[in-house]
Amino acid sequence: MPHSPADAPSGLDEKTSLLSGRDLWSTEADEKAGIPSLVLSDGPHGVRRQRAESDHLGLHASEPATCFPPAVALASSWDPALLRRLGEALGREARSLGVDVLLGPGVNIKRSPLCGRNFEYFSEDPLLSGVLGAAHAQGVQSQGVGSSVKHFAANTQETDRMRVSADVDERTLREIYLPAFERVVTEALPTTVMCSYNKVNGVYAAENRWLLTQVLREEWGFEGLVVSDWGAVGDRVAALLAGTDLEMPGNGGGTDAEVAAAVRAGTLDEAVVDTAVARLRALAAQVRAEAATAEVDHEAQHRLAREIAADCLVLLKNRERTLPLAPTGRVAVIGEFAQTLRYQGGGSSHVNATRVDSPLDELRAQLPDVQVDFAQGYDTAGQPDAAQLRETAVALAAQADTSVLVVGLREADESEGFDREHIHLPDDQVELIHAVARAARRTVVVLLNGGVVSLEGWHDEVDAVVEAWLPGQAGGGAVADVLTGRVNPSGRLAETIPFRLQDTPSFLNFPGEQGHVRYGEGVMVGYRYYETADVPVRYPFGHGLSYTTFEQSGLRATATGPDAARATVTVTNTGDRFGKHAVQVYVAAPRRPVSNPARELRGFAKVALAPGESTEVVIELDRRAFAYWDITRDDWTVATGRYEVQLCENAHDVLASIPLDLEGDQVAKPLTLDSTVGEWFGHPAAGPALTEAMAAGMTEEQAAAASENADAMRMVESMPMRQFLGFLPVPLPDDFLEQLMDLSRTPV
Ligand code: BGC
Repeated sequence: MPHSPADAPSGLDEKTSLLSGRDLWSTEADEKAGIPSLVLSDGPHGVRRQRAESDHLGLHASEPATCFPPAVALASSWDPALLRRLGEALGREARSLGVDVLLGPGVNIKRSPLCGRNFEYFSEDPLLSGVLGAAHAQGVQSQGVGSSVKHFAANTQETDRMRVSADVDERTLREIYLPAFERVVTEALPTTVMCSYNKVNGVYAAENRWLLTQVLREEWGFEGLVVSDWGAVGDRVAALLAGTDLEMPGNGGGTDAEVAAAVRAGTLDEAVVDTAVARLRALAAQVRAEAATAEVDHEAQHRLAREIAADCLVLLKNRERTLPLAPTGRVAVIGEFAQTLRYQGGGSSHVNATRVDSPLDELRAQLPDVQVDFAQGYDTAGQPDAAQLRETAVALAAQADTSVLVVGLREADESEGFDREHIHLPDDQVELIHAVARAARRTVVVLLNGGVVSLEGWHDEVDAVVEAWLPGQAGGGAVADVLTGRVNPSGRLAETIPFRLQDTPSFLNFPGEQGHVRYGEGVMVGYRYYETADVPVRYPFGHGLSYTTFEQSGLRATATGPDAARATVTVTNTGDRFGKHAVQVYVAAPRRPVSNPARELRGFAKVALAPGESTEVVIELDRRAFAYWDITRDDWTVATGRYEVQLCENAHDVLASIPLDLEGDQVAKPLTLDSTVGEWFGHPAAGPALTEAMAAGMTEEQAAAASENADAMRMVESMPMRQFLGFLPVPLPDDFLEQLMDLSRTPV
């Protein structure tokens, strides 16, 4: 046995044994080397700590824990400070349950409303996803618990998720699918990153060196540990080489032996093993430094879950102030979900909630002077007595001042593991809405759903609509808080509600075919597409109403450098009650060498204001707010030109727009003989020299003919110089073009 220092794993086999889990949730230890076993648990919105029978599909029970609202709801808060508090609460609970690393947040982009796991992801927009994800991770890690941002990367569907290749062009990856990860990694320094199951451009994420090493470590500076998604590793040696340090779950040591054999055979450098082990050791040191078990006050956690949920609800429609409900009179509460709340999604994030509040009980508690009656309305198991249930509900609605219909997707309709096939509510619920709306004096619809649902057919028949998403275990109280006006709704949509599935940008390319899903819509995801192609939607990204009114005025935008700016705006609460507002700043870019979305969210802030109160909001727009990914330069590039800084009510409604001239990067592409005539003449250094040389070689008549013939110039503009040379009336001097090509390679 070779001698080993006390703090280093002894031999190769000991070291490789650390590279995969001990079991489903914990890592291997090397006591001699001072590396303890660590516990990793789901998940993003509640701690799923399993001690007995274990699984990662949400089948077996876990320890009771607070089920906070899932990401779909959280994102609608547009409030990083709220996410930070949520993270802290999750961290506290994780520590109390002996969890070292919490597996979340999930910051994948909602590419299609059909993705079964959209409830676990934040938004269709990378900035919103990244800012909220970073706040979540910072909160968790502030409690000495590690965070694991997932699923890296381009895991935007459940169909064939373990094999499918997400075929995405680099600009789209850089601008849409990677930035949320980049922000979490660079701002929150999460202890771990979880790679996804799918392939990215043909290579499994777990084996994708470009993704896990070049981009994540070399470009973003990630120094933590990369853990595989559960069962995502096929070829362990290839995965290790690419940058997957830890394989989860454990598999009895089989793949560790493969790694050791590769080292012994000389096909794998032992230093690669050492690096992965060092990262595991560093993780242990980080999360175990403060590993005392914390006590958790479940009542306080529940209260926080309610407060958070209430700030996530989105008031979509409120005709003639139907809401808040009057404190007297008669209310008919209709719908099974009003008594058995649907509050979380299915799969690995499923939490064993400490308790669940129902909207019905909470409404009754908050409206002591209102006669609150209840009818089941529909059955979540889809029983054949739908007509009977509907009739009873309609009879009740006819007698009430206001009917509150609580409807939504059933657990079987959406989950991790499969995608939806449509975006409709169950048929019996839609029929119920029609019937109740016909009979009721006023109808309020409260929606409970993890993925976006269509409101078509019934939207115009009802008076108010509240999108409550999946609001977590305290969602019943939060729904009541908003309906009664105890909380003024301030949620804003983090994803578009389309008219039809056919209108969604990924419609023709989702979920792919024969092992590939082509991200054919490119960067035109969500509102970027609707706004650019002028496709009408039911409710745009960023939409949400309040019981008060806000005025936003005095927008200013000033350049703070060649590629950065500051936007300022004054927000005033002009209504009669306290409220919160999400200020949204978008940027529209000038003409660039790439396709331009009409506008992109580049900054936001949530402000809280008393009636009559004003505040000035400052939003810094950094270089990235103006940059696009240029594939010819392999880099972020800020084009020179006039940008528009837009203050918007939502992605569609622009309140004010300020032009902003930016110097940008002033990049000129190096010229070659394949560059076009237009590129040659347009080049800042070579262009004038070329014009001069050509003019010098021409007779007066030739020069006059050339300057008169602008159309001819347009015709040859796109011609490569190589071909154009053959048409020149006078040949250029020898080596002249070579000199200009050299000149074009010198930075301006
Ligand atoms: C999911 C991950 C989860 C893991 C452990 C996988 O199936 O994709 O999100 O963290 O299981 O439960």
